[in-house]
Amino acid sequence: MAESKKRIAVIPGDGIGPEVIREAVAVLERVRETHGVLLELKHFDWGAEKYLSEDVTLPEGALEMLSNEFDAILSGAFGDPRVASNKHAEDILMGMRRGLDLYINLRPVRLMAEHLTPLRDRKVEDIDFVVFRENTEGAYCGAGGFLKKGTPDEIATQEEFNTRRGVERIIVAAFEYARAHNRKRVTMADKSNVQRFGGDLWQRVFKEVAARYPDIEANHQYADAMTMYMVLNPAQYDVIVTNNLFGDIMTDLGAALQGGLGLASSGNIHPGRVSLFEPVHGSAPPLAGKGVANPIGSILTAAMMLEYLGYDAASRAVEEAVRQSILERETTRDLGGTLSTAEAGAAIRARIQNQ
Ligand code: NAD
Ligand code: IPM
Ligand code: MN
Repeated sequence: MAESKKRIAVIPGDGIGPEVIREAVAVLERVRETHGVLLELKHFDWGAEKYLSEDVTLPEGALEMLSNEFDAILSGAFGDPRVASNKHAEDILMGMRRGLDLYINLRPVRLMAEHLTPLRDRKVEDIDFVVFRENTEGAYCGAGGFLKKGTPDEIATQEEFNTRRGVERIIVAAFEYARAHNRKRVTMADKSNVQRFGGDLWQRVFKEVAARYPDIEANHQYADAMTMYMVLNPAQYDVIVTNNLFGDIMTDLGAALQGGLGLASSGNIHPGRVSLFEPVHGSAPPLAGKGVANPIGSILTAAMMLEYLGYDAASRAVEEAVRQSILERETTRDLGGTLSTAEAGAAIRARIQNQ
């Protein structure tokens, strides 16, 4: 167990963010009591409302403050129909991912109960893998531009960066995780058949790194084929490693396999540094304020954060409470239940047992 008090920055964000993060925070408060977890939480109101009223997205000095004063960040989601440009989300979310160099986007895909998957005849052990999504470069580098904008001859370029260093560190992280968690295979997905340069780099680095891990099987699939195999034969996957954009797409599919976006959790991690934990889903504007959003994605995200901070027993207790609530159908309506966001959160908290 971690010894010193951990400091957490909480950024609920937009839409359903505040509703689901409230439940995740309540779970953290519960494990303070049941597991003696030492946490100090501080809330930040960054999001669309602040941008619209004060013209502030990621406040000046925020990244330094987060690195110097916090151990982890728990965030909801960013995106608001009133901000068509999505500027605040870009500044805040991409600002933290890139600015804090959170190069691992770790997204588990795990079926907690058979009835949740839309696939026929799948057991919980058939859907149990983790995706290592590269999180600081690729198609998300913000490079590109327009020529002759607004004319019939307009050209828009959208560049993709793949650095040797960036590709290598995410692939190494995937193999290290596999070794540490007894996973037997790492599968790399790219489109090296058309993306001849970036794909070539990924291919070479993957082979080189794989050779350093002879105990772990390494295989490759083209990203398009992988989306098909994820549906047809998800049991083949242990650890998937891929670039930023493919990882984004693959993990929404992964979320669907495990029961929907309402359940999916993620960590934006740079080992040893302040890291950002957020549900995979977005701000779901049509659901906001109705008390119907599923809090499980955020609660499992809080469990991931607890594990990152060294509170393994508390993390497992939260996961187990979520699993029990799902088995007892104490869930929101997206999972076939009848509970509100707050009721579903309370049902989970009630199942977190004293250590
Ligand atoms: P979304 O994840 O908000 O919603 C997609 C679908 O999943 C919707 O049908 C929604 O109702 C459902 N859903 C999502 N979360 C749920 C939950 N907790 N419980 C039950 N159902 C849930 O994605 P979108 O509609 O494509 O995007 C909405 C906004 O969110 C956009 O502005 C987008 O850019 C933003 N977004 C932000 C993040 C983030 O901040 N990390 C991630 C994804 C999308
Ligand atoms: C995610 C989201 C973000 C992404 C958006 C909101 C920028 O879809 O976290 O998966 O594309 O990374
Ligand atoms: Mn996404």
